[in-house]
Amino acid sequence: MPDNSSSESAVITSALPYANGEIHLGHIASTYLPADIFTRFLRLNGLKAYHICATDDFGTPILIRAEKEKKSPKDYVEYWNRQDKEDFESLGISFDFFYKTSSKENVEFVQYVFKRLFENGHIYDQNVIQFYCTYDDKFLPDRYVIGRCPYCNAENQYSDLCEKCGRVPDQILEPKCAICGRPPVKKESKHYFFRLSSFEEKLKKWLLSNTHLQPDVKNYVINWINEGLHDWDITRDLSWGVPIPLPEAKGKVFYGWFDNHLCYISSLVKLVNDRGGNGKKFWNESEIYHFIGKDIIYHHYLFLPAIRLGINSEYKLPEYIPTRGHLMLQNQKISKSRNWYIGLKDFTSAFNPDYLRFYIASVVSYSQDDLNFDFDAFYERINNELIANIGNFINRALSFTQKSFQGIVPKPSSIDDTTEKELAATVDETGRLLSSNEIDKSLKRILKYSNYMNHYFQTNSPWANKDTSNTTVYVSVNAVRSLAVLLEPFIPFSCEKIWAQLKLGSGGGVHQQGWESAKDIKAIPAGHELGKVEPIFRKIEAKEIEQWKNKLGKPQ
Ligand code: 2FM
Ligand code: ZN
Repeated sequence: MPDNSSSESAVITSALPYANGEIHLGHIASTYLPADIFTRFLRLNGLKAYHICATDDFGTPILIRAEKEKKSPKDYVEYWNRQDKEDFESLGISFDFFYKTSSKENVEFVQYVFKRLFENGHIYDQNVIQFYCTYDDKFLPDRYVIGRCPYCNAENQYSDLCEKCGRVPDQILEPKCAICGRPPVKKESKHYFFRLSSFEEKLKKWLLSNTHLQPDVKNYVINWINEGLHDWDITRDLSWGVPIPLPEAKGKVFYGWFDNHLCYISSLVKLVNDRGGNGKKFWNESEIYHFIGKDIIYHHYLFLPAIRLGINSEYKLPEYIPTRGHLMLQNQKISKSRNWYIGLKDFTSAFNPDYLRFYIASVVSYSQDDLNFDFDAFYERINNELIANIGNFINRALSFTQKSFQGIVPKPSSIDDTTEKELAATVDETGRLLSSNEIDKSLKRILKYSNYMNHYFQTNSPWANKDTSNTTVYVSVNAVRSLAVLLEPFIPFSCEKIWAQLKLGSGGGVHQQGWESAKDIKAIPAGHELGKVEPIFRKIEAKEIEQWKNKLGKPQ
């Protein structure tokens, strides 16, 4: 459980994927897998931890793609909502609720929040000149205008986000229509603005008082505030979106970044209310974690908290915003348009999904540093660490019990307390690291323990030392159980196999016994009979890696 946390419950959210394409490896590394590992860990610690996600259904790109595919935007996003859900399940991402920003509950909640902001004086209207493409006969919001970033001068940036410097341009320079490349004309339209600029002091105070946020990200954001924040135009002249609930705003909808993060709240509230609880109370009594990738820092550290502050923190602000860097693929930036990416489903159909979980978990740091998916490193880590270290110990211990004790756990004589101490230290240190989101380091700590147990088994050589073999086997079988508890957040599919081989039922009763029970070296009593023992993992062959590299080719 996180240090100095007093809450019994937690809400974990993962940034919402746009409902317009398959989930790929890049999505997984910065957000969904770290959030899933963390949630599983909290659950093992007995917390009521709900992991919430949804598809981000609104926005111009989605509307235009749906039109291209001759589908209604509603059918289009529903299709991707189902696909995304399946993709995530294939990797064992255990959402408690995967909903959608176009849900009735979210639409109503967004309109409610807008009205409250309006009453509180945080919204004003203003006639604005909008880009309009006379050739395509369309207003051109956001992504449909590209140009030069006024802050860093990077070319070819979207009008709503500069991917080079991470800022939101006020007025993009040298604009062009992203559909046809022609310079757009300007047309007047009445828009609603959120007074983000009036929250500078409050946001700074909140950032400075929140001791859980990553210091480097916090400093970065405080610098943005010091440069001065701009009000946000939250209106779009489109048909697809949450309608602005004012009679004079007919035909206008909210900008997607006004409604999408509110779906964290509306979905959690629905989940809890549907289960007979009080969703709002649950939100306000829980620790709130928003897991994100570094490209959406601005939105989560400024816009989202300002909106919550603007409704008098009726729904509280997050305690944590775990922010991570992007995944590179073979050291190159992932890009769907350049066909340099790997679809999650493709990968999990070819390899045990735990291999991807293990690999990503072992390279993902708790920082904005980018990480890399490298096929050779993947091959090495799986074969040499997961299989040769963890898999080897588990299989050696269990198959020896099978062979020499007919699968019955023998009665030990005295248990040497150094092995017990090593186990207790592993559980404490792994827990401390996981609580502070240091996923890669916690996994390393488990590997160290598994290595220790491999040496223990080898040094005690139960096949040669008949007088101590009972104890060696007893301790080793129990250590396998401890590993299954510790590894559950990382490789849940494989842990299920371990529970079956230990014949302890699905989940090994571990959710009742909890994380701390991993310290119990006597949890499995003498006389317990194991299930069918076989290797948990299959080695990756070099030729499989070569095939994947060839299939990937070169970025276009
Ligand atoms: O950048 C994105 O992919 C957005 N769809 C993330 C939305 S997260 C939110 F809802 F706050
Ligand atoms: Zn155009």
